[in-house]
Amino acid sequence: MHPLEQLRDDALREIAAARDEKSLEGVRVEYLGKSGSISEWGERMKTLGKEERPVVGKLLNQARKAVTAALDQRAGKVRADKESDALASIDVSLPGTPHNTGSLHPLHQMHERGIQIFRRMGFALAEGPDIETEWYCFDALNTPPDHPARNEQDTFYLPDGRLLRTHTSTVQIRAMESAPPPIRVIASGAAYRRDELDATHSPQFHQIEGLYVDENVSVADLKGELEFFMRELFGADSEVQFRPHFFPFTEPSLEVYVRSKALKGGEQWIEVAGCGIVHPAVFEAVNKARGDNAYDPEKWSGYAFGLGMDRLAMILFEIPDIRLFSQNDLRFLKQFA
Ligand code: PHE
Repeated sequence: MHPLEQLRDDALREIAAARDEKSLEGVRVEYLGKSGSISEWGERMKTLGKEERPVVGKLLNQARKAVTAALDQRAGKVRADKESDALASIDVSLPGTPHNTGSLHPLHQMHERGIQIFRRMGFALAEGPDIETEWYCFDALNTPPDHPARNEQDTFYLPDGRLLRTHTSTVQIRAMESAPPPIRVIASGAAYRRDELDATHSPQFHQIEGLYVDENVSVADLKGELEFFMRELFGADSEVQFRPHFFPFTEPSLEVYVRSKALKGGEQWIEVAGCGIVHPAVFEAVNKARGDNAYDPEKWSGYAFGLGMDRLAMILFEIPDIRLFSQNDLRFLKQFA
């Protein structure tokens, strides 16, 4: 066997044994590099006799060709093995990474539904702060200093004399202060009372307040609006009942009850709101604050209402306990996603 054939066979064996690109490159340099043992035969050719030269030349070519081809082929295989090793470490049958999408709190959904219905009736959104003065919460709303609602047992007072609003009716005053009649607004938000926390009471609860002031506004308008609202919310066969009540800031004052066959326990009347015709004393208080007579009780009249949103949401979504709204239990919240 010619030494070139021997070199070729050695190279082919080393190539077959190579496990990575680095050792393949080592083999290439060893045999085919500038001073590689096969390449050296190129130089040696010049020293050979005429007969021997073509024979060795042929062998040299064959050896180069065979080793180069083997290197290419093995490199391809090494690369493919590397890729499939990497893939083998990925278990494609494993479940994917779950991405949790958030959703709106049921109370928030309830507010949005309520606001949507009132928007269609032409109500604009008004706002007021949760921390209020006694004037906005009581005095301007014709609630005298000795009224039980102002008692420290019912109201959260701050050390500086301000308080957490006990109802959203404060926004009635703020809305009238900032714009003359006619006015048609709703305000949605939290209210606070020193109630013991149980299945139906919470020291923080939520209301949608409504106020409409125009010429000749009557109880008939009020009833029509609230009936429409309840039917939109609870279905066309909802029944609404108004019962006489007392609020210092409305006269007459009414409580609103609703029942609907579409609801669970549909035979029962459930109290959902307080409402009434705005008391002239409220207009007078607003006029005083405005420094004009914009809300002249002789010219303007209005109605107001306060809807209990926690109650409405509990009826609509069949939620048995008001505490669920504030416990942040995902098992509960996810049911409204
Ligand atoms: N503010 C009253 C309450 O929270 C409800 C109400 C609002 C009554 C507007 C009459 C008019 O109980």
